[in-house]
Amino acid sequence: MDKLAIYGGEPIRNIYLSYGKQTIDQEDIESVVKVLKSDYLTTGPNISEFERKVAQYVGVKYAVAVSNGTAALHTACYTAGISEGDEVLVSAVTFVASSNCVLYCGGKPIFVDLDPKTYNIDVNKIEEKITSKTKAIIPVDFTGQSVDMDKILEIAKRYNLVVIEDAAHALGSEYKGKKVGTIADMTEFSFHPVKPVTTGEGGVIVTNSKEYYDKMMLFRSHGITRDSELMTEQHGPCYYEQVDLGYNYRITDLQCALGISQMRKLDSFIGRRREIVKMYNDAFKDLEEIEIPFEAKFSNSGWHIYVISLNLDKLSVGRKEIFEALQKENIGVNIHYLPVYLHPYYQKLGYKKGECPIAEDLYNKIITIPLFPAMSNDDIKSVIDGVKKVINYYKNWVLYRYINLYLIKEKKIWMKKWLL
Ligand SMILES: Cc1ncc(COP(=O)(O)O)c(C=O)c1O
Repeated sequence: MDKLAIYGGEPIRNIYLSYGKQTIDQEDIESVVKVLKSDYLTTGPNISEFERKVAQYVGVKYAVAVSNGTAALHTACYTAGISEGDEVLVSAVTFVASSNCVLYCGGKPIFVDLDPKTYNIDVNKIEEKITSKTKAIIPVDFTGQSVDMDKILEIAKRYNLVVIEDAAHALGSEYKGKKVGTIADMTEFSFHPVKPVTTGEGGVIVTNSKEYYDKMMLFRSHGITRDSELMTEQHGPCYYEQVDLGYNYRITDLQCALGISQMRKLDSFIGRRREIVKMYNDAFKDLEEIEIPFEAKFSNSGWHIYVISLNLDKLSVGRKEIFEALQKENIGVNIHYLPVYLHPYYQKLGYKKGECPIAEDLYNKIITIPLFPAMSNDDIKSVIDGVKKVINYYKNWVLYRYINLYLIKEKKIWMKKWLL
């Protein structure tokens, strides 16, 4: 058995491989440089072009680009009319932004437990959390896999809820053959560097509603308009009015130029992600100590991240030890995510442990391993070898345990050290 790097053995890789990373080429660089040499670094033509590209790709009427995915979610919540006292249902395991956006508007996030197979919101547990105060639902396409949108829309229709899909992970993913973004009232995408494509920081909300679109355009820029139909007075071409309270959530032309260039590569990036996932699935499917990700029939995921789940009763250590051992092998692992309501801030707000048992159980078992389009086949092989090395080492072998106990009992500590 190979000695683990954490115990002084040779790491499986010499160089640390991060769990996710942008893929930038010369064309991307030249696009940004071109903007740097132009008149507009912000509020210029690249913004609407980027919005057009995203809307066209997804197949929707409108796209509003903002400074990041979190701002996009805030914009969507505001536009949905979330305010003081409103309740919004949110998937329990997600990045905090999915529910912070509700708090920004004075609303209260209500967390819904997960489907134990997909790790997405459990559509069968939504209705029991709906009250007279529920105004919206924010399902999250965790790892890139779409939530079961037909079921969510059916519930939303019955209870008159706005659906804001958090598709930060899922640009390019599909639900029943339709692109994610075409179904919910509003759908948010993130363009952070580890996401399917990047603008550095950036977010987009897509919608087919003109009413939502107009409201979002105001919100992202201070609530200011130059539209004569919305203004109370006319003082000439430079005149504008603030007609609502908004923010400066504008994205720059530099970011959008990068985004336009990156959008051309989105399908090839997703193709490569799918290839890597297939290699991982083939390598891990027969290891009984881990479960590979489950993909529902209705989904065609773009695979933002690859999350394995540990079968802890088949291992002699917990998630923490496996995580640390993989890191020492120079494999960049991550955890997506602590159930949101377990964060200290949410605990201070009064949320209690035990609210979503499946989410809490899952948190103790999951590890995200590296996945990004620029990974070489050698990188992929090293991740597979590293995972196997660590899992094999910590296998809960009855015989191995027996030998171990025997060596301790016989005080053959030197031999145990050598074995370990
Ligand atoms: C599920 C989810 N929602 C929202 C966000 C927020 O996106 P951003 O980082 O662009 O603000 C993220 C980012 O990691 C995310 O993973």
